[in-house]
Amino acid sequence: MSLLPDLKERFRRALADVADDTQSLLDLVRPSGDPKFGDYQANFAMPLGKRLGRPPRDVAAEIVARLEVDDFCHEPEIAGPGFINLRVKDDWLVEKLAAAVRDERLGIPTVAGPRRFVIDYSAPNVAKPMHVGHIRSTVIGNALVRILGFLGHRVIGDNHIGDWGTQFGMIIYGYKHFLDEPAYRENPVQELARLYRLVRRLMDYHEGRKKLPALEEKVARQEAWLEEQRNAAGREPDKKARKALQKLENGLEESRDELDALSGELAAVEADALLSKLVVEHPAIGSAVLAETAKLHVGNEENLRLWREFLPACEEEIDRIYRRLGVSFDHTLGESFYSDRLGAIVDELLEQGIARESDGAICVFLEGREVPMIVRKQDGAFLYATTDLATIRYRMEQFRPDAILYVVDHRQSLHFDQLFATARRLGYRDVELQHVSFGTVLGTDGRPFRTRAGDTVGLEGLLDEAVRRAAEIVAANDDAKPTGPEIPPPDRARIAERVGIAALKYADLSQNRTSDYVFSYDKMLAMQGNTATYMQYAYARVRSIFRKGGVDVEALRSSGAPILLDSPAERALGLEVLRFAEAIDLAMMDYRPNQLTAYLFDLANRYSTFFEECPVLKAETDEIRQSRLMLCDLTARTIRKGLELLGIEVVEKM
Ligand code: ARG
Repeated sequence: MSLLPDLKERFRRALADVADDTQSLLDLVRPSGDPKFGDYQANFAMPLGKRLGRPPRDVAAEIVARLEVDDFCHEPEIAGPGFINLRVKDDWLVEKLAAAVRDERLGIPTVAGPRRFVIDYSAPNVAKPMHVGHIRSTVIGNALVRILGFLGHRVIGDNHIGDWGTQFGMIIYGYKHFLDEPAYRENPVQELARLYRLVRRLMDYHEGRKKLPALEEKVARQEAWLEEQRNAAGREPDKKARKALQKLENGLEESRDELDALSGELAAVEADALLSKLVVEHPAIGSAVLAETAKLHVGNEENLRLWREFLPACEEEIDRIYRRLGVSFDHTLGESFYSDRLGAIVDELLEQGIARESDGAICVFLEGREVPMIVRKQDGAFLYATTDLATIRYRMEQFRPDAILYVVDHRQSLHFDQLFATARRLGYRDVELQHVSFGTVLGTDGRPFRTRAGDTVGLEGLLDEAVRRAAEIVAANDDAKPTGPEIPPPDRARIAERVGIAALKYADLSQNRTSDYVFSYDKMLAMQGNTATYMQYAYARVRSIFRKGGVDVEALRSSGAPILLDSPAERALGLEVLRFAEAIDLAMMDYRPNQLTAYLFDLANRYSTFFEECPVLKAETDEIRQSRLMLCDLTARTIRKGLELLGIEVVEKM
């Protein structure tokens, strides 16, 4: 039994004969913000009353008369204009808590109708430095895998790595022209990353040179137009004119920034002795790179051999990060896996009249979307979208999923919109296709967060830094213990790794996934607030009580001692523990792990209050002591399980 979902079900039944569209009304059944109004509140009487043209209080009374909840709630109360307040019965809470104590799953049921999910996540483009966005996909995707799996769904995690794209044309070109042999033998990944960056820079230089005149012209045009508008607006422009001018000024500012950045980069390349020589020697590097990529795609032996040689090193590079993040996949079927299935998809799209030729390219035109989805370019090259269509087909045939979730950056939403629409037309209708999108990670300057330029191990550097700072916190915390430090140095290092990685993951998961967020080590490692550190600390604190009290946990759990909810803090904590199922439910409704972190934070706060108000080891009676220890244990287990579902480990001491 999970409280809110069951309560909604009861309300659904009560509403059945009274209203049509009950869903929007049921969304107004919620935990109440203030215990004064009970534990849950139904606030739909006002909109429903309006709909029916009846006074809300009457409507509320009718629903209450029809509502059957007396097995777990006290008689509902109608307050104010028609709020229905519900208070859960204490003996029901006590009984459910006792059941949770005995249950591995803490009383969380598995779903009645398990579904089959494919979760497409992480998916970095290998051979390019991974960036912080890949942490987001990896961490959110892995949490979904864990949570859905815990609910009893069949979940297949697939890492659709980019292992077939232009970046390989780039490093093949780099390898053929700029290889530093000894460096490559010494550390292939690092040398490949260097080659990638070098080629990228040379390509960008030539593209930048081409772009420069147009950009300069744009700035000049904007300057002239602004000048003209300023003159037209006169000496004392009115509010509207001022606003318009401001907008123009901002636009100009933006263009100027862009121009400055570009000119700066071009100048930097030209001032560099080696780079300036290379740009002259490789004037057509852009098209040469495309040619190398195309050669790879048509099976050119040398390029294929190089690709095979590069790939293991690239995979080892990302695997190292996955090991530290505690993430593994059922499959890693990257883009290359589908390379020989692309022609067939395009043929089928053509045959079925879903795609047609336009300017030599093969395109899918979709209703209501301005741009078509290109599946084959004029030169015969296939695209990202083509691979994704082949991937859907393969997954449908191989895994027969009920849902495929793509945990990918929000900037790809147009791609997925078109992809899903096309897949539907190809006949894949009975499958939920979802772009579980996420926002951008920002630096403190409000721009997309970047690791230091030239840092080959960008992402790993990030993990290292989080762990280094965690080590400081763990050491300081341990040194400050009133009875002296209790953690030997090797354990401290192990704990710091867990605390650091946890902080990073949790910081990501606790954000509303669709918003951007600012990356901050200080915030993510704060001992107070909605952080992993706070949660891990709450857990460790319970464990320390058990150690101090010499409590035998197993004996406690099987004791069958009653749980007492006599004080408000105990009752609030007990109720919160039982809300775990509700939180998981809510988190999976729209695939939002932050619903779970928010719950854990509430739980930890309730625990804090309980801990301040209710002595545990020094409780007045033995019976109360047992009961409180059981509440502590349930809290710790819920935190541990909740964190585990997010891919985060607890520590026994910190
Ligand atoms: N490799 C892509 C990128 O880094 C993400 C792939 C996501 N998955 C997919 N099936 N398109 O942008």
